[in-house]
Amino acid sequence: MSRQLFVTTALPYANGNFHIGHIMEYIQADIWVRFQRMQGHAVNFVGADDTHGAPIMIAAEKVGKTPQQFVADIAAGRKQYLDGFHISFDNWHSTDGPENHELARQIYRDLRDRADGSLIETKTIEQFFDPEKNMFLPDRYIKGECPKCHAKDQYGDNCEVCGSVYAPTDLINPYSALSGAKPELKASEHFFFKLSDPRCVAFLEQWTQDGKLQPEVANKIKEWFTVRTNPDGSTSEGLGDWDISRDAPYFGIEIPDAPGKYFYVWLDAPVGYLASLKNLLDKRGESYDAYMANPALEQYHFIGKDIVTFHTLFWPAMLHFSGRKTPDNVFVHGFLTVNNGEKMSKSRGTGLDPLKYLSLGMNPEWLRYYLAAKLSARNEDIDFNADDFMARVNSDLIGKYVNIASRAAGFLTKRFEGKLTHQFGAQGAALVHELRGASDSIAQMYEAREYGKATREIMLLADKVNAYVDQNKPWDLAKDVANNEALHQVCSVLINSFAVLTRYLAPVLPGLARAVEQFTGSSMGEWNLVKHDVQAIQPYQHLMQRVTPEQLDALFEPPPAPVVEKVAPGGEEIAPTISIDDFAKIDLRIAKIVNCEAVEGSTKLLRLTLDVGETDDAGQPRTRNVFSGIASMYKPEQLVGLYTVLVANLAPRKMKFGISEGMVLAASHADEKEDPGIYILTPRPGAMPGMRIH
Ligand code: MSP
Ligand code: ZN
Repeated sequence: MSRQLFVTTALPYANGNFHIGHIMEYIQADIWVRFQRMQGHAVNFVGADDTHGAPIMIAAEKVGKTPQQFVADIAAGRKQYLDGFHISFDNWHSTDGPENHELARQIYRDLRDRADGSLIETKTIEQFFDPEKNMFLPDRYIKGECPKCHAKDQYGDNCEVCGSVYAPTDLINPYSALSGAKPELKASEHFFFKLSDPRCVAFLEQWTQDGKLQPEVANKIKEWFTVRTNPDGSTSEGLGDWDISRDAPYFGIEIPDAPGKYFYVWLDAPVGYLASLKNLLDKRGESYDAYMANPALEQYHFIGKDIVTFHTLFWPAMLHFSGRKTPDNVFVHGFLTVNNGEKMSKSRGTGLDPLKYLSLGMNPEWLRYYLAAKLSARNEDIDFNADDFMARVNSDLIGKYVNIASRAAGFLTKRFEGKLTHQFGAQGAALVHELRGASDSIAQMYEAREYGKATREIMLLADKVNAYVDQNKPWDLAKDVANNEALHQVCSVLINSFAVLTRYLAPVLPGLARAVEQFTGSSMGEWNLVKHDVQAIQPYQHLMQRVTPEQLDALFEPPPAPVVEKVAPGGEEIAPTISIDDFAKIDLRIAKIVNCEAVEGSTKLLRLTLDVGETDDAGQPRTRNVFSGIASMYKPEQLVGLYTVLVANLAPRKMKFGISEGMVLAASHADEKEDPGIYILTPRPGAMPGMRIH
């Protein structure tokens, strides 16, 4: 019976490019989806950008874009990652698409207008307001101590340490992450989804504890139903009502009949799964309503362990109480860390940049295989370790599996025109039979997302094939034409074994499987074909290169340090560019220091009397009085008679000791510790008082 499957991954926030953790989630889901397709099941595998919320609004504003433009720019970068790692989404959409606006609003109305009593209510709540930024603070921008486990610096909506969900006002010692200010409480009307309603509690207790969820996930959820103790010693119901509205300004979907109120991003984000599916079906001319109405439809979400509450409480409750189908399961994975748990950092990335991996020419299927080998059905964290990666790819994937083909292909092409025999000999037939016989158990492992077990099983089979090679030594058989038939048998057994293993690995290695289709002339895309014999092969071409230590070094080589600012000349950056007209405004003249005196009461200043070749109204020569802060360098008598440069059109300045009619030019280092000196400029001989400097 062919199954109908609707599969999603979590919708990534559209405020940054994919990191390796996202890619891991997509690879995990993609392997499962490809496996199901190989079983002949009909799958719609969709994703979308999660576009709404205050953080994206704020980020867009910072770079001077509209939120729509901002998320569109992020969306434009998705394809290269998805194609690059062979992620076979049928559709990629956006939570800001019209389908999502419509679906989210309809789900809300259905919850609100229930005949047996509304599940939406409004309450006026006190909410944190940033008095410096003049806006209600989004949860993500309020930090403080978790009221439950007392972990410091937790976000306002849920604790990343203990996983509990709470209101920002429950935080101990809150502060605004935008301004650092202590937020103030301000009243505002909010919309709530009444999760504490007995109908919801009863439904969720059943839905989460009926055995479908991973045991560790179900157990964690159980805690959220129990009565909890508040910081003040009071107790409250485990499930609180869920605040689903935010006040303008907010990038999101406006709540029906509530101008200025928007859905909190987590209300419309999972609706994006349905929106992307609807968008896909619309494009194909299929009916979304009919598709969803199929009672046999199975719906699965692959997510990380940090977003379990949203997917196992809020989302199923929203769907169920709006009269919709609930997920058949939510598959929770752990976090990927890189080279011994080095924490993922938003700013620095992880040290494993997916695009850099691809741009170094590293094979995406190495990563798919490596992650498959490490993934299980449990939500434990897994670590990418460079040495381990190299060993698994080179020793297992290539050494044990890919090499089987290369060892047999040359003889078949040269001696038998590429044709295979169906006579396998007793030992060969037993081997191929055993390999084919593992089909069901390996299929069950894929179905259960036990990819590590599946790859181990497949590698054990490969070991058996290699033992057969070592016993039958085709390279020895090839030395004597009398052994032709035995050689033909052995090589045919090897190619058939290789084809069986390739089908088993095809969900993980779709690109390699396609190359093997060319090579063997048989489809690798159907699980059932595992029983079919290969008839003939094309000349062997290298199927997969080994990973080199140089590639791994390059992958983890830190990105080039930002260009270290050159030591600024004189300790001071060059000032912004000016035009020649700007410069022309400054009238610089050669001046003769006709007199120079110390200034009473100042250790810094010298009083200069300058001849700039000027005359007064009566035609008499006149001089200028200028104060200059060069007393630390020169004794007055050293300067008398010297020529220097005067800024002649500087506005006269009244100083404590008299009026300064201009300024003489002198050089100094910006950093006095570097050089405390100040050096007066003097022209070459020939320059005369009054000459202008151009
Ligand atoms: N936008 C929400 C999900 C909305 S679903 C309706 C979100 N986005 S996210 O970009 O932060 O995360 C997307 C997915 O990537 C989540 O399932 C998350 O658990 C997963 N991962 C984020 N970092 C990860 C690792 N380091 N390792 C594995 N998965 C990780 O949450
Ligand atoms: Zn906590």
